[in-house]
Amino acid sequence: MTNTLRTILGGSVLLAAACGMLGAAPAAPQSAMGARPAAAAARPADALLAFRDDGSLERPRGYRRWIFVGAPLTPDDMNDGHAAFPEFHSVYIDPASYDHYKRTGDFRDGTVLLKELSSVGTKASTSGKGYFMGEITGLEAAVKDSERFPDEPGNWAYFRFTDEDGGPIHRVAEPLPAASCAACHTASAEQDSVFTQHYPMLREARGYGAGEPEDR
Ligand code: HEC
Repeated sequence: MTNTLRTILGGSVLLAAACGMLGAAPAAPQSAMGARPAAAAARPADALLAFRDDGSLERPRGYRRWIFVGAPLTPDDMNDGHAAFPEFHSVYIDPASYDHYKRTGDFRDGTVLLKELSSVGTKASTSGKGYFMGEITGLEAAVKDSERFPDEPGNWAYFRFTDEDGGPIHRVAEPLPAASCAACHTASAEQDSVFTQHYPMLREARGYGAGEPEDR
C-alpha cells in the first residue's frame, strides 16, 4: 500500500468513527456530524489553559506555536521615557479560535489571546537604525469564556503574569478587575474588545471566507 493510500484510508476510518458510522460505535443522528461533544464545546479554553480552583490562571505553555497576529510597539522614548506597557507586544491567538475567526469573523467562546512583551534592546543593527527586541519581559492574557466569566464585559477576563511595575514573569496570575484592563479594551478596541485595528493578520483572515485557501 502506498503511503498516500494508507493516509486516505486512515482518514476515512477516522471520519467514519467520528461520525458514529462504524459498527461498534453508537449511531449518531446525521445533524450531529462534525458537532463537538457538549462539554468540550462549552469550555474550549480549558483544553489550552489550566485554571486553579481559586480562579487564577497558570502561565500557558506552547503559545509560541499559536498563530501570530501582530506586533504593536510602544517604545519608551516616544512615551516620555516610560511607556504604559512594556515596549514590544507580540500577540498570538490559539489556532482553533483563529480557524473559527477565519470562517465567521467572530471571536468564539473560548478564544485565548496572549501578548508577550519584550524590551527594546538596541536601536541600531547592520540593517539600519530602528527598534530591535531585547529581552522577554512579560506576558498578558485575554480569555473569552461565557461560563467562567459571565459578568465580565463581552465575557473577556484579563490576566497579567508580572507585577504592575514589571519584575519576573510569575507562574500564575489572578483575573484583574474590569477597571484595570477591560474598560479600556471595551471602549477603544475595534472588535469585541480586541484591538483588531492593530493586527493585520486577523484583518486579512476575516476576508478569507469559509473554505477559501489562505493567501499566505
Ligand atoms: C489604556 C488602554 C488599555 C488598558 C488599560 C489595557 N490595555 Fe490591553 N491593549 C490595549 C491596546 C491599545 C492594545 C493593542 C495595541 C498594543 O498592544 O499596544 C492591547 C492589547 C492587549 C492584548 C492583546 C489582545 C487584544 O485584546 O488586542 C492583551 C492580551 C491585553 N491587551 C491585555 C491587557 C491586560 C491584562 C490589561 C490589564 C493589566 C490591559 N490589557 C489593559 C490597551 C489597553
